Amino acid sequence: GEGVSIFALPQEVVLRVFRYLGPEDLCRCGQVCSTWAQVVKTGSLWRHLYPVRWARSDYYCGPPGDLDQEPDEDLVKSLQDEGRAYQEWDEDADVDESEEASEGCPAISAVQREKTLLNGMIQNLLPTVGPSVRSLSLAYSSAVSSKMVRQILSFCPNLTHLDLTQTDVSDSAFDSWAEFGACRSLEHLDLSGCDKITDRTLKILSFGLGDLTAHANSSRSKLLKAPPSPIKLQEEHSLPPMGRSCQELIFKRRPGGRGSGCGPVHVWVLDPAELADIEDTADWSRRGGVVSQESGRGSVLELQGGGGSCCCRRSQRRSFRTGFSSSHWQYSSVGDARCGHSTCCTSDMALWTVREQCDTPATGGAVDFRTKCSFEGDSCPKRHKRTDQSGACRALGFLSLSGCCQITDLGLRCLSQRGGLPQLEHLNLSGCLLITGAGLHELVSVCPALNMEHFYYCDNINGPHADTASGCQNLQCGFRACCRSGE
Ligand code: FES
Repeated sequence: GEGVSIFALPQEVVLRVFRYLGPEDLCRCGQVCSTWAQVVKTGSLWRHLYPVRWARSDYYCGPPGDLDQEPDEDLVKSLQDEGRAYQEWDEDADVDESEEASEGCPAISAVQREKTLLNGMIQNLLPTVGPSVRSLSLAYSSAVSSKMVRQILSFCPNLTHLDLTQTDVSDSAFDSWAEFGACRSLEHLDLSGCDKITDRTLKILSFGLGDLTAHANSSRSKLLKAPPSPIKLQEEHSLPPMGRSCQELIFKRRPGGRGSGCGPVHVWVLDPAELADIEDTADWSRRGGVVSQESGRGSVLELQGGGGSCCCRRSQRRSFRTGFSSSHWQYSSVGDARCGHSTCCTSDMALWTVREQCDTPATGGAVDFRTKCSFEGDSCPKRHKRTDQSGACRALGFLSLSGCCQITDLGLRCLSQRGGLPQLEHLNLSGCLLITGAGLHELVSVCPALNMEHFYYCDNINGPHADTASGCQNLQCGFRACCRSGE
C-alpha cells in the first residue's frame, strides 16, 4: 500500500515513542515541526533533570536513585578543574570577551555549554514542564547562579530531589520557597559545600515544607476560653474591620519578662477575622504578652533579639580552631544579631513568623499571615491552602548541610519547629562549626526516623547519640569546612 508519513501518527503514539529518547534527541525532535515541538514539551518526558551531566554528553535521565550514591571521584575532580579554569577565564573576560578565546580550552567550553543549556531550560522548557519536574541535580555546577536556581525553583514547585552540592548559591536562591507549599514535596536536599548558605535558607526551607502543627494549634485554640476581663485587645473602633482580611495584630513579649535575654521577640501575626486566632491572642495576653498592632509588608519577618545578657553578647566574638581563614568562622557582630545558641534562646521564645504576600481585592496590596492565607481554597488568587488541611507531611528524608559553615543553632531550630522532620533519616552537619550540642539535641528530638549511621556532625561537639552517630565526614575532604582540616 501507500507509505504512511510519520507525521500522520497520532500525538499519543508520538509521545510513546519519545519516551525512549534522551534529552538530546528530544531537543532535536522538537525542531522538526510545530506538532512535535508541542509533544516534546510534555511534562512526563522531563521528570529528572541533570544539566551538568548533559552538558558533558552524559544523557542519563532516569531517577536519581539509579545514580551511584557516592560521587565518582574522577568526575568530581574533572568538574572542579573545569570550574577553576572557567572562573579564571571569566575574571579575565573583560580583557578578551570573545567566544573564540575559550574555544581552545575544553574545560571552559564545557562550562559555557552548561550555562547555555541552563539558560535554554529556564527560558524555553521549564515554564511549560516545570510542575512535572521531580529531580534536579546541579551538583558541582560552575555555571549556575543563585538567580538561576531561584528561577528554576519557581518553575518547579513539585521537586522531590534537589542536589546543589558544591555550588556557589546563596540564600536568595530559595526565595521562591517562601511561599506556602513551595517545596512541600521535597524529600532529598543536598547543599553540601554551599558555604554561603545561612540560617535564612533553613528558615525558608522549614516554612516551605509545611506545618504539621497547624491543625493541632487550630484545634487547641478553639478550646481556649475568652480572655478574662481586664484584658482589652483593642478598642472596637481601632480593631480592623471583621471580614476584612489582610490586617494583623502583633503581640510582642514584654521587655524584661521571663526569658528576655537574647532571644527573639515573640511575635504573633494574626488574622483578626479568625476567631480562633483572637482566642489565641487572649491566651497569650493573659500570660503576659503585650498587644500592639502593626502593619507592613515583606516576605519574611525578621525577629530581633531583645536583651543583652547572653553569653555570646558578652564575648562578642568567638573564633574556632580551623585550618581555614579564621575570620570566616567567627561570629560577626553578634551584638546586632541573635547568637543562635539554643542554650541562650529558650524554645518558648522562638516562634518564627513568616509573612506572605497575597494581592487581595480588599486592600490591593500585600498582606501578612501567621499560618495561612485568609483567602482559602479556590477564592485565593494563588490557591493557598491552610497547611493543616492540605496534607503537609514534611517528607524530607535526606538533608546534607556538610560544609555550610554559617549555619547556627537558630537554623536547626527553624527545622525543629512546625512539626520537626519526622521522616528525616540522613542528616549531615559535618563542618557546621557554629552549631552546638544543645542545638543538635533540639533538632534530633524531633527527628524520630534518624538513622545514626547517617547522622554526621563535628567530632568536637558533645552532641546527641555520640556513641552511635557517625563523625565528621570532612576530615579528609580537603575542600569543605572542617575544624580539623590540616591535622
Ligand atoms: Fe569538627 Fe570536622 S568540623 S571534626
